[in-house]
Amino acid sequence: MLSLNVNGRDHQVDVEPEMPLLWVLREQLGLTGTKFGCGIAQCGACTVHLDGQPVRSCSYPASVAEGRKVVTIEGLSATSSHPVQMAWKALDVPQCGYCQSGQILAAAALLEAKPKPTDADIDEAMTNICRCGTYQRVRAAIHLAAGTGKGVGSIIHMAGLSPDRACGAGCSNLEGAKA
Ligand code: FES
Ligand code: FES
Repeated sequence: MLSLNVNGRDHQVDVEPEMPLLWVLREQLGLTGTKFGCGIAQCGACTVHLDGQPVRSCSYPASVAEGRKVVTIEGLSATSSHPVQMAWKALDVPQCGYCQSGQILAAAALLEAKPKPTDADIDEAMTNICRCGTYQRVRAAIHLAAGTGKGVGSIIHMAGLSPDRACGAGCSNLEGAKA
């Protein structure tokens, strides 16, 4: 029996200690926003926060999470209003969406550590794989959430998005991006 704190709630789960955290989240707790991709810590689809750090839950025994705080995409914010989620919506980042919860968790951890990341910071932190190739929009959305707005204008133009529509999503940072 393991005791886990996930998204602010305590859970007792009857699993083997070496079961990957990903499967405990998905199969035992029903938190299916965290995805399985490669299973070998390469793609990042399974990224969650462990005490605020991004980890690849497919390769973490659940027992490692005991006594620590786990946050999944379901718990990042109560109303999908985390700045990263708002920026993702404003720029229509996802395509198929499969990798996106991992991308968002990785981006949120990056901004927690570095509120104004450079492109080099983003390259170093964002190693998640996207088979749909959303990398350019991911980068722009991180800059948008950070308030730097770098590259956001071109994404709006290329995607045919209306800046007003994007601002309507509630992302005040977009004001800087329109300049
Ligand atoms: S499923 Fe965990 S890194 Fe790919
Ligand atoms: S949006 Fe499809 S894999 Fe990233």
